[in-house]
Amino acid sequence: MASEQIRYIGVNDHEIDLFEGQYDVPSGMSYNSWVILDGKVCVMDTVDRSFAQPYLKNLEAALAGRRPDYLVVSHVEPDHASSVQAFLDAYPEVTLVGNAKTFQLLENYFVLGETRRLVVKEGDTLPLGEHTLRFTLAPMVHWPEVMMSYEEREKILFSADAFGQFGALDDMPDWDDDEARRYYLNIVGKYGPQVQAVLKKAAALDIAAIHPLHGPVLQADAMAHALAKYQIWSTYAVEDEGVLIAYASLHGNTAAAAEKLADLLDEAGCPDVVLADLARVDMAEALACAFRFGKVVLCASTYNAGLMPFMEDFLHHLKAKNWQKRTVGLVENGSWAPMAAKTMRELLAGMKEITVLEPAVTIKGAPKTTDLPALQALRDAVMAE
Ligand SMILES: Cc1cc2nc3c(=O)[nH]c(=O)nc-3n(C[C@H](O)[C@H](O)[C@H](O)COP(=O)(O)O)c2cc1C
Ligand SMILES: [Fe+2]
Ligand SMILES: [Fe+2]
Repeated sequence: MASEQIRYIGVNDHEIDLFEGQYDVPSGMSYNSWVILDGKVCVMDTVDRSFAQPYLKNLEAALAGRRPDYLVVSHVEPDHASSVQAFLDAYPEVTLVGNAKTFQLLENYFVLGETRRLVVKEGDTLPLGEHTLRFTLAPMVHWPEVMMSYEEREKILFSADAFGQFGALDDMPDWDDDEARRYYLNIVGKYGPQVQAVLKKAAALDIAAIHPLHGPVLQADAMAHALAKYQIWSTYAVEDEGVLIAYASLHGNTAAAAEKLADLLDEAGCPDVVLADLARVDMAEALACAFRFGKVVLCASTYNAGLMPFMEDFLHHLKAKNWQKRTVGLVENGSWAPMAAKTMRELLAGMKEITVLEPAVTIKGAPKTTDLPALQALRDAVMAE
């Protein structure tokens, strides 16, 4: 996790129920922070304020009697910066290091008053002795003020939220594709072009390790793997061959049609079929799966002349994360005036480069043997794409 001079002082959060007030984190969350002990002592970010005390203890232990000269604030979001006040109370003489936006945003949360500041720009360096930090801005890789720091001696990229993952380090010590994907696509999925800009800058650096603000440090093969995944995710490319069948069903009939379609796809040799009951699965997981595959079939009951709300919600989430470049099949259900396919089409029309497979399948009530040819035709269309 660290070297002799760059020590880990972060914390694991197992008390959290929802990260960012919305994402399930069954394995908890880590808030990472490091201290660089050199001629100057520099701390890289703080942690969520619920953990300010254990964090300051970790720092004090690593300092062994020294005091920090700098606190670099890579990201002002409260999961990292809400202990800045506690830090300043303990070490009021420290110099905060950030870009102009960092200080603008920090002052939305704290009264900085006379606090010492060092305002840095793209490419500026901060010599610490043997170690030197070089700053690079990463706007919207998660917030507008985000910046990364590259430490030239140990070739470490402190990457802020990028390359992070859900899960506390004592529970998930290694990079996990599923949790990293769910984290990335839900948290920064919307900002693919901005992540691309960062990847281009990173490609010009000789990086030995990536230190993200959440999740494990990445080195060697794990780092190459994560970089390859970020290349796919940030360009909205298809990650794996397979089909997500996402359904929202009031009384189980649409669910039965979705299951039938899954069987048909399996029998036809589809490499991977994932069924997601949108009322019951984690919406963030279903969303990540929709990005993972190139093809998605949406199956929904008509509800009060519109769409079963869980499907509507799912489509709003996809739109909010800039979901694009995908092929979509539609299955609707309705007893008297089916409207689900029309409503889904309207919501999909607001997204980029979505191909809707025609025709949509309409089922009235329970799926019957007479519905089979339409489901088979949809299966064939999905397989042909
Ligand atoms: C609260 C409620 C509202 C509904 N609204 C409509 C509607 O506006 N138009 C329609 O054709 N069917 C409507 N239906 C009928 C369902 O779409 C129909 O029963 C369908 O087969 C449900 O499939 P499911 O068992 O997967 O929920 C409604 C059903 C319920 C329970
Ligand atoms: Fe963030
Ligand atoms: Fe974060």
